[in-house]
Amino acid sequence: MLKQYLLTPGPVPVPPQVALKEALPIVHHRTDEFVSIYKDISEGLKYVFQTKNEVYTLACSGTGTMEMAIVNLLSPNDEIVVASCGNFGERWIEIAQSYGIKVVSVSVEWGEVVSPLQIEKTLKENPNIKAVFTTFVETSTGVVNDIKSIGKIVANTNAVFVVDAISGIVGQEFKTDLWKVDVAVSASQKGFMLPPGLAFITFSQKAKEMVKMSKLPKFYFDIKKYKKFYLKNQTPFTPPVTLIVALQEAIKLIKAKKLESFWSDCKLFSKATRKGMQALELKLFAKVPCEVVTAAVVPKDLGEKIVEILRKKYGVFIAGGQGKLKGQIIRFAHMGYISKADLLAGFACLEMALSELDTKNIEKGKAVAAVQEELYRD
Ligand SMILES: Cc1ncc(COP(=O)(O)O)c(C=O)c1O
Repeated sequence: MLKQYLLTPGPVPVPPQVALKEALPIVHHRTDEFVSIYKDISEGLKYVFQTKNEVYTLACSGTGTMEMAIVNLLSPNDEIVVASCGNFGERWIEIAQSYGIKVVSVSVEWGEVVSPLQIEKTLKENPNIKAVFTTFVETSTGVVNDIKSIGKIVANTNAVFVVDAISGIVGQEFKTDLWKVDVAVSASQKGFMLPPGLAFITFSQKAKEMVKMSKLPKFYFDIKKYKKFYLKNQTPFTPPVTLIVALQEAIKLIKAKKLESFWSDCKLFSKATRKGMQALELKLFAKVPCEVVTAAVVPKDLGEKIVEILRKKYGVFIAGGQGKLKGQIIRFAHMGYISKADLLAGFACLEMALSELDTKNIEKGKAVAAVQEELYRD
């Protein structure tokens, strides 16, 4: 048995107070007890999303709510813009195209951020665009996009602005209403500090108007069903009550600590992680790095090997590269229930894994010292 350090960009470690709630006897969902829990989480989610609109809780992974956004907003042959800068941006394209939606892509190289100016130009050239889809934190590359600037641009058009905030929310500042995001989606296994299995979605008034016109086929993801039940603090289908009870506890912790405090922790941890990578002479991959996961380029495509050594020998779980970045990068996450001690343990083991592979002359302790230096100043 090996003690586990989960430093992946989802799932993340679950605080014991939250995990304990999952061990309680099952609450039946058609009871007053469940209604009270559901009411509480729905209010709490408004705080987490920084919105005055309803936030719906679904039994699915984040991709489910991405699909939900598409099927509830659009109709066959609609045209949309997808601003992609990595693996998860491309997922918007795949889902949309599988429903016959015409996609105008304003993709950039992986590692770059999407360009608000390019989006503005594309919207001017294509006045029929119904919606603009992008990603807040592109977990596959570690960049963060300028959602606030894009929100201002899209708000001046008839299109709605849809953001995959699956990574990033709770970990770094994200303000749905203030940044004029019409539809935001997220999932439980990231900043929420929960196991995978729940996903969330919210619609602005502008988006709600578009929902009324939508003609794409839908059943499980039909927002109208959820809305009807939401008014009674219920869900149309059997909810994962165990996860919802755990979510209530997680939201309690988030409210007690306050979002701002999570944001400042992740900012510090990301700064320290970048310093650690630089001390190891590993080039940072993201042009505009986010604060919840750090991607670094590793020599000789050894990414998968490094991830394996860390996992098997030290019980440290980090992520490798996805898609075309497989082997080329490692991704070290610092979101949710993570401490300074976790970061230091992760870097100490990373130094040992790199030494074992003899990729460079690793001076043991150098990266740990760089991380310590940054954390100690706090
Ligand atoms: C930014 C982003 N979008 C989408 C997804 C897909 O979410 P899920 O795996 O929960 O369906 C992820 C998961 O890592 C993600 O990080």
